[in-house]
Amino acid sequence: MSDIDAAFSIRVLTTADAIAYRIFRLTALKRYPHLFRADADEEAAKPLASTERRLKESPHNRWTGAFDISGNLIGSVGFRSEAGLKRRHIGQILGLQVAQQWQRRGIATALLQDAIAQASALGISQIQLSLTLPNPAAEKLYDRLGFEVYGLERDALRVSGQSHDKQHRQLRLGA
Ligand SMILES: CC(C)(COP(=O)(O)OP(=O)(O)OC[C@H]1O[C@@H](n2cnc3c(N)ncnc32)[C@H](O)[C@@H]1OP(=O)(O)O)[C@@H](O)C(=O)NCCC(=O)NCCS
Repeated sequence: MSDIDAAFSIRVLTTADAIAYRIFRLTALKRYPHLFRADADEEAAKPLASTERRLKESPHNRWTGAFDISGNLIGSVGFRSEAGLKRRHIGQILGLQVAQQWQRRGIATALLQDAIAQASALGISQIQLSLTLPNPAAEKLYDRLGFEVYGLERDALRVSGQSHDKQHRQLRLGA
């Protein structure tokens, strides 16, 4: 475990974190239904094994958590890359979330910087992510870290009959 700040630390999540991660994720899916692709009820109906599969670490799949000093999960992000020869230079950031009471303390920045370091170590040359618009907090965060907009997907999500666009961004790492 590495100390990033006196108040929280970050480490890679493993299948042993599946129950805590599942609760944490479902809370965010319920609180911000338009910000995530997955639907809370559909995810809640899946067995714990599906969460364990999601967290199963490999060179191409790594989830990182932020924890408070009592060991409670307060932030998470996923980093994935493809194994195929033609796409192995591209990584994806997924499922970034920080518990509401812990926001604006640099946790998302620390989690993203960790994912960027991981991508660099793997020789990846660009990291992609997408976000539902509008999301001023995420837009500012990604602007600050240098993620540039490269596309807009109209009507990407429909939540309770309302349509939402998704913005696609990438960070070029120069590898
Ligand atoms: C977006 C989110 C992950 C940011 O997490 P965070 O830990 O609060 O972010 P940080 O503290 O690292 O913020 C870094 C910078 O991002 C910007 N930012 C973050 N939250 C913001 C907010 N609510 N309003 C405006 N700017 C914000 C600021 O520039 C901030 O720097 P500052 O605090 O020095 O001004 C968090 O708000 C969240 O979980 N939101 C709900 C889920 C979500 O939107 N996930 C992203 C899906 S793509």
